Amino acid sequence: MFITFEGPEGAGKSTQLARLVARLTAAGLAPTVTREPGGTPLGTRVREVLLDPELDMHALPEFLLYSASRAQLVQDVLRPALSRGEVVVCDRYFDSSLAYQGAGRGLPLALLQGITHEVTGGLRPNLTVLLDLDPALGLQRAAARGQPDRLERADLAFHQRVRQGFLELAAQEPQRFVVLDATKTPDELEAEVWAAVERALKVSGA
Ligand SMILES: Nc1ncnc2c1ncn2[C@@H]1O[C@H](COP(=O)(O)OP(=O)(O)O)[C@@H](O)[C@H]1O
Ligand SMILES: [Mg+2]
Repeated sequence: MFITFEGPEGAGKSTQLARLVARLTAAGLAPTVTREPGGTPLGTRVREVLLDPELDMHALPEFLLYSASRAQLVQDVLRPALSRGEVVVCDRYFDSSLAYQGAGRGLPLALLQGITHEVTGGLRPNLTVLLDLDPALGLQRAAARGQPDRLERADLAFHQRVRQGFLELAAQEPQRFVVLDATKTPDELEAEVWAAVERALKVSGA
């Protein structure tokens, strides 16, 4: 069972991921928890580059850096944990690249999907929780965390395209995605996430 959290900056992904992990742990499922970019020593170095507000980056090299982190994560963390039969929970995965570098930066989706297939070896989540939020509100929430990173500094129109990109991905794969209204309270969202995960676990027979 492979679960990912997606959505704009400040949507509450990390908050809900932590709550889900607590529930899974209480249920005795000992999940593997990771994030993108990052999750491996290489990925952590790549993450520093990607979030550095001092760096200018074109769309394709940006996508390839995310892909490099992802390829390493799939091989070193995701596949091994899944083959041990663990529940794996990941904060962002390839849908973020399709939304940010595709819908947001305008790279052709077919190109991104082709490379992503190679990078992941076709590994797709069983369940993707999309926390949908007006990016203006999300950026306000994220700003409370401190200095904005490189992505948080991008303009609002970019973040609007990213939001639409996520919603289109969800519409194309309604069986994989659950789309939640991220303006709800953390408690309400936690209950909705848990209901979706229980459903998915039942379907997978875990
Ligand atoms: N449902 C919610 N309603 C209001 N604020 C929230 C909610 N979920 C998270 N927050 C707050 O918004 C900020 C960003 O949350 P976070 O989980 O870090 O988002 P993300 O990981 O998606 O960027 C944090 O300060 C967090 O406390
Ligand atoms: Mg986060």
